[in-house]
Amino acid sequence: MSAVVIAIDGPSGAGKGTVARLVAEQLNYHLLDSGALYRIVGHAAFLARVDMDDGAALAALANTLKIEFAIIEGEENVAVLLNGEDVSRAIRSQQGATHASKVAVHEEVRAALFGLQRSFAKVPGLVADGRDMGTEVFTDAPLKVFLTATAEERAQRRYKQLRQKGEAVSIARLLEEIKERDYRDENRAVAPLRAAEDSVLIDSTNLSINEVVRQILQHAALI
Ligand code: C5P
Repeated sequence: MSAVVIAIDGPSGAGKGTVARLVAEQLNYHLLDSGALYRIVGHAAFLARVDMDDGAALAALANTLKIEFAIIEGEENVAVLLNGEDVSRAIRSQQGATHASKVAVHEEVRAALFGLQRSFAKVPGLVADGRDMGTEVFTDAPLKVFLTATAEERAQRRYKQLRQKGEAVSIARLLEEIKERDYRDENRAVAPLRAAEDSVLIDSTNLSINEVVRQILQHAALI
């Protein structure tokens, strides 16, 4: 029996993380937050002062990292451990997002993370969220979802999240950062963010999380 993969791609803030987790819980599938891997590489590169323009050096660094995901009772997000240390908070900051999208432009870095991502596909199945799950990493996935929302709506959501965490941010600045990151993700030469031709498109601008989850589960039932 091979693992069923549900690929969920889309721009930052479209709700992929939450939706992927809920779908995985409902189906009892494994979960891959591929963005966390790019965030870890960005974070490690920042700490080790590796040049973010040097793809080969970043890939060499990525290959030395011991990355683990741990479910912590009562925590909403999966904890991310780098060489045994919980780096969840550092990698989920705005700076973490910027570093991730900088290291993610390099083909060498993407290649270094490819096998690791594939290894998450275990029976009964995997829900993988990212930018290129359906177009590059799990091209054979029987269900590919492209989840979007307007940049304004995504900035609003991020604003609320950060406020809840006590981070002071301006919504205008967030919107600008989201647009910059979209631009970098959509226009990079390697694995640019785009919907796979065989993906189901869901615009979550006016949908609740539960409604998005319901729609994905409905598609999953047809696999
Ligand atoms: O999904 P998340 O916001 O955590 O991703 C952080 C960054 O990592 C993205 O902006 C993107 O540049 C990069 N990324 C990627 N490919 C993926 C997942 C994330 O390039 N599959």
